[in-house]
Amino acid sequence: MIVSLKEMLQEADKGRYAVGAFNCLSLENVEGAIAAAEELRSPIIIQLAEVQFPCAPMNLMAPIYLEAARRASVPVVVHLDHGQSFETCAEAIRLGFGSVMFDGASLPFEENVRITREVTRMAKAMGVDVEAELGKVGDVGKDDDKADVFTDVEESARFIELTGVDALAVAIGNQHGRYVATPKLNIDRLIELHERNRMPLVLHGGSGTSVEDFKACIHNGICKINVATAIQVGITERVQQYLREAANPDYITMKGVIREASKEVVKEHILLFESNNRA
Ligand code: 13P
Repeated sequence: MIVSLKEMLQEADKGRYAVGAFNCLSLENVEGAIAAAEELRSPIIIQLAEVQFPCAPMNLMAPIYLEAARRASVPVVVHLDHGQSFETCAEAIRLGFGSVMFDGASLPFEENVRITREVTRMAKAMGVDVEAELGKVGDVGKDDDKADVFTDVEESARFIELTGVDALAVAIGNQHGRYVATPKLNIDRLIELHERNRMPLVLHGGSGTSVEDFKACIHNGICKINVATAIQVGITERVQQYLREAANPDYITMKGVIREASKEVVKEHILLFESNNRA
């Protein structure tokens, strides 16, 4: 069943667990993720990022996401991840996404506020929830900035007040992509951000985070954790193994391998995030 992001994250905040937000790039990916959530009785967020549109066009994926979410026996949020413009967020809403993220984190503060506020105003009018980002999450290997990349506590409070967002993605030493070494997250900053803001916080770049940091995040205000790379790595490894070992590999069996690999990786994360048996 489809539910709103706000509602799902408020439940997570109350129960002190996090909901996994999994980037799904194919039908098998979506099916595997939802099957994992159903098996473990967990709420789940399925999401697509704008940078992923070239391999998974939003207008083709939207009907798959929405139908799979409607049919699911657990609560599902269909979310646009890292929308890069007002127009992309509007298009996602038109296609039926129940929540959108506008990512203006690389913009100057005032510009991030201005566009996020426009997105929030439009989304609220359509009954859609909004996530935004403040601070520099960045990508593994791209050393964009040596300055303080962590989300600033006072700025976060101002940002939330000015924009009216429902969830805020924070930068606490996390990065997108395949980490070269396991990162050490700034949990002290997370605690300060959580104390200052009564608002569900989001951790991006979930893949490769240590169990210890995941637990510290969940227990200190993170209610949504984004995972993309771990699923792609899991699928690639299982497909490689299948192609190596099968006497006569075929495409239809391989689609099943992709579905199972997605399910396995999503299950692992649901258990880590303690969202099992919450649906
Ligand atoms: P990873 O690819 O590092 O898991 O990050 C996912 C993410 O944050 C998507 O927004």
